[in-house]
Amino acid sequence: MITFDGVTKRYPDGTVAVDNLRLEVPTGEITVLVGPSGCGKTTSLRMINRMIDATEGRILLDGVDVKTIDPPTLRRGIGYVIQQAGLFPHRKIVDNVATVPYLLGWDRRKARGRAMELLERVGLDPGMAGRYPFQLSGGQQQRVGVARALAADPPVLLMDEPFSAVDPVVRASLQEELLRLQAELNKTIVFVTHDIDEAVKLGDRVAVLRVGGHLAQLADPPTLLARPADDFVAEFLGRDRGIRRLSFVSDEGLRLRADLTVPVSTDVSALRGTAEPWLAVVDADDRPLGWVAVGDLPESGTLAGIRLAPYGSFVSGRDSLRGALDATLLSPSGGAIAVDDSGRVRGVATREALDEALDRVAGGARA
Ligand SMILES: Nc1ncnc2c1ncn2[C@@H]1O[C@H](COP(=O)(O)OP(=O)(O)O)[C@@H](O)[C@H]1O
Ligand SMILES: [Mg+2]
Repeated sequence: MITFDGVTKRYPDGTVAVDNLRLEVPTGEITVLVGPSGCGKTTSLRMINRMIDATEGRILLDGVDVKTIDPPTLRRGIGYVIQQAGLFPHRKIVDNVATVPYLLGWDRRKARGRAMELLERVGLDPGMAGRYPFQLSGGQQQRVGVARALAADPPVLLMDEPFSAVDPVVRASLQEELLRLQAELNKTIVFVTHDIDEAVKLGDRVAVLRVGGHLAQLADPPTLLARPADDFVAEFLGRDRGIRRLSFVSDEGLRLRADLTVPVSTDVSALRGTAEPWLAVVDADDRPLGWVAVGDLPESGTLAGIRLAPYGSFVSGRDSLRGALDATLLSPSGGAIAVDDSGRVRGVATREALDEALDRVAGGARA
């Protein structure tokens, strides 16, 4: 656990970058520091590994004041990842990753073996090992940066906007990769970002900072989105906070209708007089094929010959309410098709059922 115990940083020019910060970073979790530019995120992070020393207060690492640990020893147990990866340009990828093991005096073979293992872990082709940083894309360089930080297997990882300089698609895959790695490694991670979406996606807990280095709120993402502590936090979370919050709400209790699906082998004559405007068509295996508009049915034949409208589906019991809502966007009927883990249709969540569920969530937020 990392404890900020009333930590203040005043730079020589009088700037107070961090003001009496009290914060606990639990072991084995990802704690995200998020806030606008200049709110003291980097300063807070660098005080942990003593690249910057606090002016007042203490930072404790498992109860020990970091000021009593000499910096090289301290940093051996703390991996550090920064925005532009910070790789050594004239060293091969494998040697970049093995930097700390070399410093620790491991023999070359063992250090390189460890580096190769880590490259694979962070999702890089071992063929990259012999290249130089400039020969890699930005996203690949960031993966190398993460591998390098993990090389000596430090219990603590500090990450300062590590994914901010890559495009959104690469960024999303780096985020996924980090979550996957963390599920295996259980590091104590302090992750800094100015991007609230990234914070909410990655953080077990999120600390929102405001300029002047004040902690505005510390909460897990669902709580943060449901109950921002003040106007500053609400503003920072943005207008679509309500929608994003649905990612954390299970679809349990969402009413599904089983009577709105129809097999593709059905003869259209059987559907005449159906009151429902749209039906979900399924194949012989109960997998969804699309929507049919009952009003546009031909005189005869089965559904097999009819062009179907596109559909969206979500995995019932696994996806969030957000997943269900997103699935409606693709459907002209306004409903979302619920499937089970094997892709078989369980029923249809109608617009009305979703509205009911969303009302319940809104009610919960007011409570
Ligand atoms: N070496 C420094 N000297 C003076 N002021 C600094 C120094 N480094 C950062 N600051 C100031 O401290 C505040 C916090 O900076 P920083 O921790 O880098 O914020 P963030 O990472 O959240 O953008 C800012 O006002 C910044 O200008
Ligand atoms: Mg910064």
